[in-house]
Formats: sequence, structure tokens, C-alpha cells
Amino acid sequence: MTILQTLHLRRSSQWDPPTILDHLLTSPLKWIMSILYSYILFLRGRPFHPPPRPPSSSSSVSGAGVEQQQEKGPIRVVCLSDTHDQTLPVPDGDLLVHAGDLTQDGSRESIQKQIDWLDGLPHRHKVFVGGNHDGWLDPEARRALLRERKSRRQIDFKSLRYLENSSVTLDFKGGRRLNVYGYGAVPECGDDTFAFQYKRSHHPWNGAIPPETDVLVTHTPPAHHLDLSLGCPGLLSEIWRTKPKLHIFGHIHWRAGTEPVYFDECQASYESLMSRPSPPSPCYLLGLGPLLNDFFFFPFVLLSARSRAAWVDALAVLWYGINSILWKWIMQGPHSNNGGLFVNAAVMHGNTGKLRRGGNEKAVVVVEL
Ligand SMILES: *[C@@H]1O[C@H](CO)[C@@H](O)[C@H](O)[C@H]1NC(C)=O
Repeated sequence: MTILQTLHLRRSSQWDPPTILDHLLTSPLKWIMSILYSYILFLRGRPFHPPPRPPSSSSSVSGAGVEQQQEKGPIRVVCLSDTHDQTLPVPDGDLLVHAGDLTQDGSRESIQKQIDWLDGLPHRHKVFVGGNHDGWLDPEARRALLRERKSRRQIDFKSLRYLENSSVTLDFKGGRRLNVYGYGAVPECGDDTFAFQYKRSHHPWNGAIPPETDVLVTHTPPAHHLDLSLGCPGLLSEIWRTKPKLHIFGHIHWRAGTEPVYFDECQASYESLMSRPSPPSPCYLLGLGPLLNDFFFFPFVLLSARSRAAWVDALAVLWYGINSILWKWIMQGPHSNNGGLFVNAAVMHGNTGKLRRGGNEKAVVVVEL
């Protein structure tokens, strides 16, 4: 631990949220733009609107055809991730998704315990992927988990659908259907008892996600979204290709939450800015290079092609962002959006070992599709 870390002025690991000083020492421009970007997303309103709820059944006319139509309503998707052996009250819904890290030690027994708990919940469909902590699910990691080597017992998935680079089509009331693709692969982050790890340079996502996917479930976030800069760029480009309505992931506990996505110029410019290495500074005094470089030497920084490109991206985010807000509210109205949603569903409160919001129902994200 350095003195700055002891004083909590700098974070102690890349899994923690950056402090203000961390931001200033890496790239103040990126920091400010990430805040402005979240305001832009907020001002664009809800990214999509589910079909309206059907009128209550007492007023419905009987007759099979009519009933079928009237039952069409929103599908409630309940999103969980990173429970790490713990259980909590889960809101009711039509589809329950667990995006991996059911356990801490990855043993067959721990995974079975979590499955038994999830199996007992009343949701119509339940789907999960494994996370890096669920070693038993990956034959290679299983070999490294010493205690698990000899056991021949299998896991009983019960009412859960386990997805590993595979899809399932699910039926809901009113004849609605969702296509769900899941895969728990993660960029390398631990020893060989961790499951489904890949090298960032050799990611498994190219062409992996079927284009008809409505709901994408992975353990890792995509790069630049709810990810503390630890998400996967390969997954992000595959998402641009397939544009699922809902993407549920976890892994980065401190970034739990939701973020709308529109796959437009504003988002592309933001991702381009975030993917740039911080520009080299003309002044490394006390490591304040990025701060001086991004702001105090402005406009001189524009002489360097790298900082110029970063500033062009930042201005593009603002330009396209303001345009999209004005276009929506002036030209189209409140129900116009046709975007998607990213959900980091981690219920663990950072690295504290405790659940978010004291482990009550509000720790769980519910999305209506
Ligand atoms: C994922 O599935 C696709 C299609 O079945 C296959 O081509 C690809 O090799 C699989 N990827 C991995 C990492 O298993």
C-alpha cells in the first residue's frame, strides 16, 4: 500500500472504483465525459417502452382469441449476478436470469446449493451462465479444483436452463417469445481454478451471438459500459453487430446498475474516446501529466494528433448527444425510443462480502420488456 492508498486518495486495486485523484491522474477529460455522457443518457429518457399492461381480467370478454390478445403485456425480467453463495429475496417475474458467479469456491456442492435455491423461486423461466468463480462448470478449471477431480457426481440443473455459448427460445403469456443467448466466458483474471477464461487478444465472441438474440447473458461486461475499464472490447464489437435489446452481465461488483444503449454516433464517439490510451504529457511533474495535458495546456494540446483525436471524440459525444435529446423531445415525443439496456446485475456490494442494499429485494434489477 502506498501512502496515497492508505489515505484513500488512490484506489488499492483496479477492481475498486477510481478516486477523484485517480481520475485526474489518468484522464480528466475521460472522467468529465463519462459524467456528461450519463446526463445525456438520462435526458434521453427510457430507452424503450414495453407493451402496455392488459386490462384486468374481470373486464375481459371471454373467447379464446380475444383472451390471447388481451394477455399480451410486458415480460418481467429479473436480473441477478454475483450472489457468491448468498441468497436474498427475489422480486417476482416471468424470466429469472443469473449472470454467473453463483459461488465463491466453484465446487459442485456450492453450485448445487445455489441451483436448489433458484429452483425454488416461482419464475416461469430461469436461465443462468457460469462465472469465473463457478469452476466446476468448466472441465479445465474442474481439473484444477483438487477436491473435485475424482467426484463423478453431476450437477442437477432442475428447472434452470444452463447456457454455455448456446441459445434458448422461451414462450411467455400472450404468445410472446424471447431468444436468449448466454456464455460465461471472461477475460483472464485469476488462476486456473477460474472458469472460462480467455486472453483478451483471443476472445471467443467473433460471430458467437446469433443475430436473433433478444436477451444476451454474459458474465463479463462489454468494454466501456458499467465495467471500470475492465470489460471486453471483443464482446462490445459483437454487441454492435447483433444489438440485443437487453444485455445482462455482472463480474464488476462496484459498477452494478443499468445503462441505456442506442448504437448511434453518440455512443460510438464515447467508446472511441474511452478506448484511447491517455495522451502522453509534455509535463510529468508529480504525475500530473494528464491533468495538465487535457486542460491547462489546451489549446496547445491540439498540436498533438493524439490529444486532438480525443478532443474531437469528446466534442462529437456532446454534439450528437445534444442533437439526440432535442430530436427526441421536439420531433418525436416521450414514447419514441428504440434503444436497448445494459444491466450490471451484481448483487454483491463491492468486495465487502455483503449484499447491496442489505440484501433486500431492491438489490435486484427488474426490467420490463
Ligand atoms: C460457440 O458456438 C459457435 C456456434 O455453435 C461455434 O462456432 C463456436 O466455436 C463456439 N465457441 C466456443 C468458444 O465454444
